[in-house]
Amino acid sequence: MHTVVVSGDGTAFPVADGQTVLDAALRNGAWLPHSCTQGTCGTCKLRVLCGEVDHGGTPEETLPATDRQTGMALGCMAVPRSDLTVQTTAVVDGTVPRHRLRDHEATVVVLDDIAADTRRLVLELDDDMQFTAGQYCELVVPGVGVSRQYSMANPPGDPRRLEFHIKRTPGGMATDGWIFKDLAVDERIALRGPLGQFGLADKQDSPVILIGGGTGLAPLKSIVHHALEHDLAPEMFLYHGGRRRVDLYDVEYFTELAQAYPGFHYRPALSEPDPDDGEWTGSVGMVTDVVLDDFASCKGMSAYLCGPPAMVTAAVKALKRRRMAPRLIFREEFTAAP
Ligand code: FES
Repeated sequence: MHTVVVSGDGTAFPVADGQTVLDAALRNGAWLPHSCTQGTCGTCKLRVLCGEVDHGGTPEETLPATDRQTGMALGCMAVPRSDLTVQTTAVVDGTVPRHRLRDHEATVVVLDDIAADTRRLVLELDDDMQFTAGQYCELVVPGVGVSRQYSMANPPGDPRRLEFHIKRTPGGMATDGWIFKDLAVDERIALRGPLGQFGLADKQDSPVILIGGGTGLAPLKSIVHHALEHDLAPEMFLYHGGRRRVDLYDVEYFTELAQAYPGFHYRPALSEPDPDDGEWTGSVGMVTDVVLDDFASCKGMSAYLCGPPAMVTAAVKALKRRRMAPRLIFREEFTAAP
């Protein structure tokens, strides 16, 4: 057991043998910046001012050896070898979600096919979980000792209920080998959460654009629902992209929401509609091109992006072309493993 002290605010927390700095911080209610918790995004970079860490499986691309030699470490990968004093490299303000990370058990109450190779999984938790719209959980894949990350799609109002949208990956350990194979209603699931810092930081003064590809819609659904309930944004534009009609889901849900809330606009888009898609009244084209067509300028607005990396990269480029400030473009950094 070691102790980690965060320089500046003096927060201190214990770290068990083999536990990472980030896991210990979040389980003890001490917030440290993070996003993917997989060593890929770099959000959790820390400066180790005093003490020694084992960098474990820290990827060289995220933290090169030269950075490690100057005392840098990834909080989600680094395991203390001694007591530590660390300094965060990202700004930690009062708006980040500070819910304590915990292990949970839950029962499957809904498991539905909602789109091509896409399922909605709803869990009833044994005990309460507080989370912020946009955060995610890690579901433990039974029998193989690995976890997979999925964003909550429901708003945080009911602390016992979690909704996830899961895309099947052929041959994927969690999807093909479990959720699309053996998993059934009434089965038990172990999970940990909440994690991540993706989501509306605070009440917004300007319009918000949300762009999702495939099951990247999940955290955006949670954010939209929560923001509408609490009147957090003057106007919201939700874009959901898919190739064909069978790739989109919750179209009726968002259409009705847009009718009920004049400040909420829903724009589903198909990049490759086929004749079987029937009478498609939504947009046609890459979702990012639809955004470019809709806005002459995005100056002063903010955006929340989640989906395949290529879509997110294209969306960032499109929004910058429309003069959105890079600091107002937020993206979910984890990519769901198969
Ligand atoms: Fe640690 Fe992403 S690299 S949270």
